[in-house]
Amino acid sequence: MEQNPNRYTITAALPYTNGPVHIGHLAGVYVPADIYARYQRLQNKDVAFICGSDEHGVPITIKAKKEGITPQQVVDKYHGIIKKSFEEFGISFDNYSRTSAEIHHKTASEFFKKLYEDGKFTEEVTEQLYDEEANQFLADRYITGTCPKCGNEEAYGDQCEKCGSSLNATDLINPKSAISGNVPVLKETKHWFLPLNEYEDFLKQWILVDHKKDWKTNVYGQCKSWIDDGLRPRAVTRDLDWGIPVPVEGAEGKVLYVWFDAPIGYISSTKEWAAREGKNWEDYWKNENTKMLHFIGKDNIVFHCIIFPSMLKAEGSYILPENVPANEFLNLEGNKISTSKNWAVWLHEYLEDFPNQQDVLRYTLTANAPETKDNDFTWADFQTRNNSELVAIFGNFINRVVVLTHKYCEGVVPQPASFSEIDKQTLNELTAYPSVIASSLERYRFREAQAEMMNLARLGNKYLADEEPWKTIKTDEERTKTVMYVALQIASALAVLSEPFLPFTSEKLKLMLNVKSSAVETSLRWNDISKNTELLKTGHKINKAELLFSKIEDEQIQAQLDKLQASKKMNASTSSAQAAANKKVEPQKETIQFDDFMKLDMRVGTIIEAEKMPKADKLLVLKVDTGIDVRTIVSGIAQSFTAEEVIGKKVTVLVNLAPRKLRGVESQGMILMTEDAEGKLVFMNPDTDGVENGATIN
Ligand code: MF3
Ligand code: ZN
Repeated sequence: MEQNPNRYTITAALPYTNGPVHIGHLAGVYVPADIYARYQRLQNKDVAFICGSDEHGVPITIKAKKEGITPQQVVDKYHGIIKKSFEEFGISFDNYSRTSAEIHHKTASEFFKKLYEDGKFTEEVTEQLYDEEANQFLADRYITGTCPKCGNEEAYGDQCEKCGSSLNATDLINPKSAISGNVPVLKETKHWFLPLNEYEDFLKQWILVDHKKDWKTNVYGQCKSWIDDGLRPRAVTRDLDWGIPVPVEGAEGKVLYVWFDAPIGYISSTKEWAAREGKNWEDYWKNENTKMLHFIGKDNIVFHCIIFPSMLKAEGSYILPENVPANEFLNLEGNKISTSKNWAVWLHEYLEDFPNQQDVLRYTLTANAPETKDNDFTWADFQTRNNSELVAIFGNFINRVVVLTHKYCEGVVPQPASFSEIDKQTLNELTAYPSVIASSLERYRFREAQAEMMNLARLGNKYLADEEPWKTIKTDEERTKTVMYVALQIASALAVLSEPFLPFTSEKLKLMLNVKSSAVETSLRWNDISKNTELLKTGHKINKAELLFSKIEDEQIQAQLDKLQASKKMNASTSSAQAAANKKVEPQKETIQFDDFMKLDMRVGTIIEAEKMPKADKLLVLKVDTGIDVRTIVSGIAQSFTAEEVIGKKVTVLVNLAPRKLRGVESQGMILMTEDAEGKLVFMNPDTDGVENGATIN
């Protein structure tokens, strides 16, 4: 690999087309990928920035079932919404395709066939989970159960989202069908497997040795743990009717596993673009001098670092990614973003509330990017980033420069007189920014890069505040012109250096400064800033000032918080309704007479001592003050409570139950309990302030 390649294939994870995109997607994948692609284009690199919709897989069929429409209708709807959101937020894909496109079906089919014919797959009849009610094999998201690695009870058949493990459906403990909720049975079926175990040596060398130093620690760490665990053959076909048919004989009713076809989507999307642009797609996938990068979220690491590279290796003619800069997750106001709980900020809704303020969101998401750990988005922080940074620093600086240039210099870049020490130092500092920002970007440190870009705006702001051209104008017009000249150079450098982060702002700023695109105006290229401090020449006319950012008011923030609060309330009421619906209520028992009831002697009591019954999981031995006496009661509550937590509890005690021995200890009564929706025991403790032990219940 040459040190400074000229060609880049930059991919961003193909989003599942079963819902719109939210800020988590943007922060984790698409904004950093876009910053990187824009930056490389500004370096005059040949960039293919590739994405598309991931339209196969179980989540889409589940969504279709839920909405009573076909999977095709689901993907048509969301492909349109997602594509539009990306365009609106300035994500500058060179091509945005979709995996239902013909070119993709063909590319993925041929890829499979090549591996099949080269004998790269193993063929196996195995027992797979089957839902007898739905008459369907269950894989991937059709099945949930307990993760064998971390105990998460909501793991999916292909992956545990909690610990990131990649799973086979049959690994799950207590598997449950996501279609019917039934316990599945095992049934035989034939599938094709990619024997990942045969790629272990290759992966060890490629990741654990070659990329030990340059991959992010989170990515390297995940890969190492999978490889250390030992890799197993992975099925690359599924019994499903939505997807790309398996292109070999004897595979009727089977499709390619979505994670087999989706990453090939990067290749098909590149082909589609190359055909349109008159390029050769193979330059972007098969040329050792091309640098390939996959931008993804952390839940995609195994697929992009282990499985897809093994597929490419098996095929034999492809290059491998140089890096996979995966991000962690973004939370929202302290909670995990959730589509089903509507705990999210949807991109299309954001623009309704903050029209034309894409850059504010891009800026906030990058400032808080979950680069090394999960991070939190809060609306309060969003407001502060806008009001105290974008408005008060960047916007304020630019506005002063442009307004004052019109006021003191007729809107023309003035002729500077001699530079003061401060001027020289400032211009000198300016020349350092392109390489400082570039060096952060080359290491995928987007927060750091953006913070440096803002430091340049700070430099400009401080320079104007210190040099006070509005004061010197009264005494020394030449000095004012020199200050405006220097400030204009900073403003024009910002127009270029802000482009990857704030593309809309950069565009407006270029318009104001009356410079066209950076490629046309040769003095305004990224790297020229380091060499040349005369970015805007004396005599160049600029345009009128326009506001770049505007203040975001408390009411606007409150409205967003209210929206989230409404989701929270809605979730609380649906989950209690669901719990109620799920609960099997026991039928009423046989009628009894009043006297039967009166035979029960129930009292208010207090647990004053408790200890675990030795060698019994469920039993606690309690000393209970019943008001009549203090007696021993053995109670089967140890799986819901520790001994410590029940001491001091007010309880209801059936005191006249005939004593019986439990594990050799005589129990003299019974504590009344019920169960909550999750099956945890709950004391029937009367709301007892002021009620004494021994009070009767009737
Ligand atoms: N659809 C997947 C997700 O949203 C990502 C697919 S990336 C690709 O998690 F490589 F398969 F394209
Ligand atoms: Zn897990």
